[in-house]
Amino acid sequence: MPVQHSRASLHAFYADALRNGRNTGEELRAPVSARFRSLLTSLPADIPRRALDLGYGAGAYTIALAEAGFSVVAVDQAPAEPLFRRLSPHEDLAERVTVVESLIEQYVVEEDFGLLVAKDVLHYLSQHDVEAVLTRAVQSSRSVNMHYLEVFAGISRTDAHGGQIHIEGEARYTLETLSHALERIYEGWDTTVAWDDHAEQDTRTQRTYFEATRATVTAVRRCRVSAVAVTMKGREAS
Ligand SMILES: C[S@@+](CC[C@H](N)C(=O)[O-])C[C@H]1O[C@@H](n2cnc3c(N)ncnc32)[C@H](O)[C@@H]1O
Repeated sequence: MPVQHSRASLHAFYADALRNGRNTGEELRAPVSARFRSLLTSLPADIPRRALDLGYGAGAYTIALAEAGFSVVAVDQAPAEPLFRRLSPHEDLAERVTVVESLIEQYVVEEDFGLLVAKDVLHYLSQHDVEAVLTRAVQSSRSVNMHYLEVFAGISRTDAHGGQIHIEGEARYTLETLSHALERIYEGWDTTVAWDDHAEQDTRTQRTYFEATRATVTAVRRCRVSAVAVTMKGREAS
C-alpha cells in the first residue's frame, strides 16, 4: 500500500524551502531550461505581452518572462515574500510582476494571457482541477495565445525503504490519460508534446526518489479571422 502524504505537508515543504532559499532535489533554484529560452526568442510577433506563471516556485520563469518584456501574473500557494525579495533590486522587472498567493485551483483566469506557463506543478492538482483551470484559460483566449506546460506522468515516488509515496489528491496521470486530457483541452489549437524520462535524487544521499515521464507541451492558438469579418470585407470589395 502506498503511503499518502497530505497536500498540507506538500505545501508546507515548498513554503519552507522557498522561504529559506533551499535548493531541493528538483532544483527549485535552477535557471530556466534552454528549451524555454529558445521558445521566448521565437514567439509570434503579435502575441499579447501578458503572461501567467502558475506555480512559480523560486520565480525563474516569472523573471525570464519579465526580462523578455512581459507583464506577469505569478501564482503560487507559497508566501510571496521570497519572490518580492528576489525582484526588489530590479525595479523595472518588479513593476511588471503581480504576485498572487493562491491555490492554482482557486485562481480564476479572466484575462487573455499571451503566454501561460505551468512548469512542474500541474501533477499536484487533481485531473479535474487541471482540466478546469486550463479550459478556463482556453475559454478566455481572444488572440494569439501560447500555453507552455511541463507535466509529469507515470510518477514513481519512493521512500528510503522502497515504499511508494502518493500525495493526496494528485493527478496520477498515465501517458494515456494525460494525452487524452490535452486533446480535450486544446481542441483546435496547434499542440506538440515532447516526452522525456526524468529522475530526481536526494541531495544528501543521492538516492533516486522520483522517476517519471515529463511531457513538455506547447499549445498555440492562432488568431482566426472571423467569418463575419471576411464576409464584410468581401462586400466592401464588390
Ligand atoms: C516543483 S515547484 C515548480 C516551480 C517552478 N514552476 C519551476 O519549475 O521552477 C512546484 C511549485 O508549485 C507550487 N504548488 C504546488 N501545488 C500548488 C497548488 N495547488 N496551488 C498553487 N501552487 C502550488 C509549490 O508551492 C511550488 O512552488
